[in-house]
Amino acid sequence: MDIQIFDTPTQASKQAFTLFEQALGEGANVFGLATGSTPVTLYDLLVKSNLDFSQATAINLDEYCGLPADHPQSYATFMKEHLFNAKPFKASYIPNGLAEDPDAEAARYEGLIDENPVDLQILGLGKNGHIGFNEPGAKRDSVTHLTKLTDSTIQANARFFDTIDQVPTHAISMGIASILKAKHIVLLAFGANKAQAVKAMIEGPITSDVPASFLQEHPHVTVLLDTEAASLLSE
Ligand code: F6R
Repeated sequence: MDIQIFDTPTQASKQAFTLFEQALGEGANVFGLATGSTPVTLYDLLVKSNLDFSQATAINLDEYCGLPADHPQSYATFMKEHLFNAKPFKASYIPNGLAEDPDAEAARYEGLIDENPVDLQILGLGKNGHIGFNEPGAKRDSVTHLTKLTDSTIQANARFFDTIDQVPTHAISMGIASILKAKHIVLLAFGANKAQAVKAMIEGPITSDVPASFLQEHPHVTVLLDTEAASLLSE
């Protein structure tokens, strides 16, 4: 893992932008994307740039179950508002959270990943060490699947909804094995509330208890941190 520490989240996001720009310049064509607060500055930088994604493909990590794509809190809406409306991609994929058969939808989505191998995967990190919605207990060989969100993830996501009861309890998410198929993974984590998960991801054992620790097995991972998120690292 290449660990890079910056004074502020903005500086770390600028570095993520540079990696995106470099990848595009080197012919990368498929970008794995995340939602949540962490990549918002990166997406702002992409929107303000002159980069052209009209020939590129985007594949998102996950989508809540039970929300229509046009729901204000769906991840489909998030991606449109933060990136796709301003920077349309040739194709952009996100799981269908309303699929009647979520297992079939998950299998279809894994097929899309195999047809469009991800060149650069952007990840955030859950406070509990999740990546995508691979919560503690996630298996190394998991592919895209229906998953139940933990209480801590539901609480963390409640800030986007009027009441906690409105937060979806399930999602369709790429699995650990799906994520590890990407050629280059760039994980961003900011703030003191991520410091414990960052330490466990980088310095802890590789374990299902900390799904992000499986990234230690990938040959090309870049971790971009601010000083607060890096504060518990030993070096
Ligand atoms: C989002 C996702 C999640 C988030 C993580 C961090 O698509 O898959 O793993 O990256 O929950 O969320 P934020 O960035 O809001 O702290």
